[in-house]
Amino acid sequence: MMRDVSTADELLRYRTEFPILERTTYLISNSLGAMPRGVYEAMRGYADEWATRGVRAWEEKWWMLAAEVGDEIGSLMNAPGSSVSTHQNVTTCQAIVASCFDFSGARNKVVYSDMNFPSIMYFWEAQQARGARVHMVKTDDGVTVPTERLLDAIDEHTLLVPISHVIFRSAYINDARAIIEKAHRVGALVVLDTFQSLGTVPVDVQALNVDFACGGVLKWLCGGPGVAYLYVRPDLGRQLKPTFTGWMAHREPFDFEIGPIRYTDPPYRFMNGTPNVPALEAARPGLKIVREAGVAQIRAKSLRQTSRLIELADQHGWRVNTPRDPERRGGTVSIDMPNSHEVCRRLLTRDVLVDWRPQAGVRMSPHFYNTDAELETAMATVEEIRREWPVAAR
Ligand SMILES: Cc1ncc(COP(=O)(O)O)c(C=O)c1O
Repeated sequence: MMRDVSTADELLRYRTEFPILERTTYLISNSLGAMPRGVYEAMRGYADEWATRGVRAWEEKWWMLAAEVGDEIGSLMNAPGSSVSTHQNVTTCQAIVASCFDFSGARNKVVYSDMNFPSIMYFWEAQQARGARVHMVKTDDGVTVPTERLLDAIDEHTLLVPISHVIFRSAYINDARAIIEKAHRVGALVVLDTFQSLGTVPVDVQALNVDFACGGVLKWLCGGPGVAYLYVRPDLGRQLKPTFTGWMAHREPFDFEIGPIRYTDPPYRFMNGTPNVPALEAARPGLKIVREAGVAQIRAKSLRQTSRLIELADQHGWRVNTPRDPERRGGTVSIDMPNSHEVCRRLLTRDVLVDWRPQAGVRMSPHFYNTDAELETAMATVEEIRREWPVAAR
């Protein structure tokens, strides 16, 4: 008998909020979360404010927006109020963090894993010109991060450990707690990239005692491109002086003082120039839905659905490049079948939206709005595509 758990799935009540779900099998929230229909209204509201309030919109709403949205994001990771600033992307967040430190002394080592998102590596590699010494720990299997080797690399010369919470390629969940504990024992600080965790895997910045956390809203938070967040541990936040700074970080920005900056308090202390107002407005409907749905509920469903995808991949004999241990698995299942890149292309033409990454395969990422039936559809479509190939190429 067919199991129909989807009728009991409370989270499916949000399906109607996402127009694209009516037309596609949307399994790509690890890359771009579906757009909530509330974004239409948010964008209209923004245009109306600009059209009717003009420059007064800054004082009435826009100036505060960057911090308000920061708090909305912060509430999803148990961040205290005013500890989260908003920016355009995560690479910029790294630059803000880096600008708080001096790499000319003996403590100038930056330790990370080669499973980080490449943009983060490109940024830190480039900081070698400023004196940073990069130590990159290599993966053994292309799926996991060798925790012991990473911990051993974090020593008294280590300044920063920029590391992904969940690995984008494989959905492996790093042992953030162990990494942070080791870093603190030797006087180093951790910059946790929660892009692939926040919204699908629980994150509690206070329980972790992490120093910095950053990510964007366009994936699991359904917030669209153009908004990233930077959490700074409040005691650190009051002391650090980012040199990548600007008038938003000034104690009296509207005095337009000449000379060096006088820093204000977080979160504006970590901002610099004019914020991306339309993107901040577009981010709010998704954040509201994820908050209402609840990350604990989303995580429980994600574990059930990713398990099912692994089960189906096993039945077909396809390689799973994602941890089987649910404790160590985020919201994505990377499946490498023969010709997986071409399979991915053909899935897109059949409205099964997924993506493909080297050393990973086809990434499938069910989110709270996906039905169980969609998982079966996606995998059946892969099989159908593969049947079109001559036997030798399968
Ligand atoms: C873990 C992780 N970090 C960072 C990024 C992107 O960084 P940025 O916001 O600078 O484009 C991604 C994906 O786009 C990611 O998966």
